[in-house]
Amino acid sequence: MTVVPSVGPAAVGVSEVLERCRELVQPALVEAVGRLHPWVGEMAGYAFGWCEVGGAPVIAPGGKGLRQALAVLGAEAAGADGREGVAAAVAVELVHTFSLLHDDIMDGDETRRGRPAVWKAYGTGPAVLAGDALFALAVETLAATPGGAGALPRLSTALVDLLHGQADDLLFAARPWTGPERVRPEAYRAMAEGKTGALLGCAAALGAVLGGAPPATADALDRAGRHLGIAFQIVDDVLGLWGDPAVTGKPVHADLRERKKTFPVLAALDTAGPAARHLAARLASDDAPAETAALVEAAGGRTAALAEARRHITAAGAALSGAPLRPAAAARLQALPDFLLDRTL
Ligand code: IPE
Ligand code: MG
Ligand code: MG
Repeated sequence: MTVVPSVGPAAVGVSEVLERCRELVQPALVEAVGRLHPWVGEMAGYAFGWCEVGGAPVIAPGGKGLRQALAVLGAEAAGADGREGVAAAVAVELVHTFSLLHDDIMDGDETRRGRPAVWKAYGTGPAVLAGDALFALAVETLAATPGGAGALPRLSTALVDLLHGQADDLLFAARPWTGPERVRPEAYRAMAEGKTGALLGCAAALGAVLGGAPPATADALDRAGRHLGIAFQIVDDVLGLWGDPAVTGKPVHADLRERKKTFPVLAALDTAGPAARHLAARLASDDAPAETAALVEAAGGRTAALAEARRHITAAGAALSGAPLRPAAAARLQALPDFLLDRTL
């Protein structure tokens, strides 16, 4: 099959692709969540933006649906109908939502997508339970799908990597900003690949496997998704420092307050010039996050972060270009990263 050059988002209509994938996956996702204990199902529905506390239906902002789209496009890239990827899409959306529920507890973040986080709305214990239930439902969904049981190792590998990344993310918060114990950009990349990249790679690879792709093709999609995930996480870090909470739905500067080792700050400190020294002193004093963010920018952290995100998007594109994928679906996959980077512009 042919190798596809990168195509801009406008040419392929990324929003339309995300919407088409959502329409394909949503009924199966609703059906799966309907199998949960009703109380747990309500918490899941709240997290997905389908209902309010108490269960009244509502249309609240949900996620972009990037993972479900990767699974559907992975199946299509393997030459199958997108419907073949739906079980994979449901599994990865369930895992993603589980990870967000628990992540907000770990990070102490009280809002998600402009609404109280599940742990604030329902309590920490119930939110832990809902996350566990979504995790189990994801595994059950994939295992019950024809051809899905054989793909379970890819899901379990992604889960192990995700939890490894989350562990490093939490531990890094306790590390100093400077000195020999500081977190280097290389360690950040490994952490971000784990906490964010592993599931994106898994989404595309699982969709491809269910679509009949050979392991090498699924591996290439996995690699592409992992690079995409690192880029995505760096963009998330940028939005956490300079984004508008009204748009991101998350509190601004929460990462700084939690001493998260985000890429823009690490890159700024790595420049080791006067601006970096000024920033290091400010980080030690731990106040005025808006001024700290300005110092990160002055030291080149924002520019360096976006350049790093672009490098990983290029690497994702290279992984896709090297695989024998169906051209139309490959073009849609190639268009997703540019769309993602646009979030920062
Ligand atoms: C979330 O990472 C990663 C997982 C949920 C596995 P972050 O903590 O950096 O993401 P946000 O900013 O809360 O979404
Ligand atoms: Mg978080
Ligand atoms: Mg986190």
